[in-house]
Amino acid sequence: MKLQEQYKIIEFTDLGDERGNLVVIEGDGMDIPFDIKRVFYIYGSDSEVIRGQHANRETEFLLVNVSGTSKVKVDNGTESEIILLNRPRMGLYLSPMVWKDMYDFSEDSVLLVLASRHYDASEYIRNYSDYLAELKKRNCEA
Ligand code: TYD
Repeated sequence: MKLQEQYKIIEFTDLGDERGNLVVIEGDGMDIPFDIKRVFYIYGSDSEVIRGQHANRETEFLLVNVSGTSKVKVDNGTESEIILLNRPRMGLYLSPMVWKDMYDFSEDSVLLVLASRHYDASEYIRNYSDYLAELKKRNCEA
């Protein structure tokens, strides 16, 4: 599958008014394709840190820098792209089996992550060679 089909930049509507901004993300196909089962957020990571460095066999994610900026490198074993998250209205949707690195966090970065599944350590692939091997196996079986 092409990397372009494995991630999507989503621009959310701002329902704000003179009182300030309001961005709503509804799951289940309304604003994002999945039902939201888990929310976590990452902050206090400095510009030297690389987070992520894994792929998930099952989970879909939606990443939003609700404050500050960060970069996400998405990789499908053949192609890779770097996406700059720099607006609270910008979401990055990731399909399962995409390898991701999050890095270059600004000091004020708060990276909000919505996930389609509860945490399950066994669905994480944390070794890049294992990731490539699993992709190869899946391709052979397909
Ligand atoms: P980790 O996957 O390394 O974070 P990141 O994707 O940002 O690099 O997670 C750090 C620790 O937190 C690890 O011990 C697993 C745990 N964790 C949970 O228990 N639940 C979760 O939803 C997440 C994302 C992590």
